[in-house]
Amino acid sequence: MTAPTPLIAGNWKMNGLAASLDEARAVAAGLGGLGDARVAICPPATLIDRLRQAIGGGPVLLGGQDCRAEASGAFTGDLSAEMLADAGASLVILGHSERRAGHGETDALVAAKVGAALRAGLEPIVCVGETLEQRQAGEALAVVTGQVRGSLPPELAGRRFAVAYEPVWAIGTGLTPTTAEIEEMHAAVRATLREMFGAAGETAPILYGGSVKPSNAAEILHAAEVGGALVGGASLKAADFLGIIQGL
Ligand code: 13P
Repeated sequence: MTAPTPLIAGNWKMNGLAASLDEARAVAAGLGGLGDARVAICPPATLIDRLRQAIGGGPVLLGGQDCRAEASGAFTGDLSAEMLADAGASLVILGHSERRAGHGETDALVAAKVGAALRAGLEPIVCVGETLEQRQAGEALAVVTGQVRGSLPPELAGRRFAVAYEPVWAIGTGLTPTTAEIEEMHAAVRATLREMFGAAGETAPILYGGSVKPSNAAEILHAAEVGGALVGGASLKAADFLGIIQGL
């Protein structure tokens, strides 16, 4: 049984212009003593190739934030997993709550996109998470484990992937679950991965996402079954992102 390799990924969401390349350069320059942990930046797709030129081959991996399931075709405005890989991505975030809620993405669609990522050689980071209403109704564990079952296709067995637990109510709000709540959810996700993939379900890191910042990173990152973080707002500034990484 191999322990998960920690991963800290920055999700820039719809933020970043050419001027932001310096922040990524500062992250790459400031990394040190990572051990076997990995660091990634997922910028808007318009910046992936430029980031490859700026920091490619260094310690920071690059990722996309979404892809379409098809490899190519008449899908105006969409991007395929192959295009992200061609631009320099090695990972892709899929099923983020902002896409599930804002673009009507279902578990089945997310699972199809995961298949596309694997086809293109990208490592998927599959996001799951409950809303505040669902948590208050006592449904959080059932909702999240249901999303894991529905969004992770069988072909993930033996492939490198990560799951990101991002409670919707913790994203961009400054609110975070207690460490005990994070540990309870991560244990439930791990148990589900084990049921689905057997021993292979032990090796995928389970990231926590939602209002991670330098001041809370160390406690969150050292919680049981937390294998890293998916960071939004605090990944936009190199100093903050590096401060989070130091919490490993
Ligand atoms: P914040 O870190 O800004 O709360 O965003 C979390 C997130 O959605 C990362 O994917």
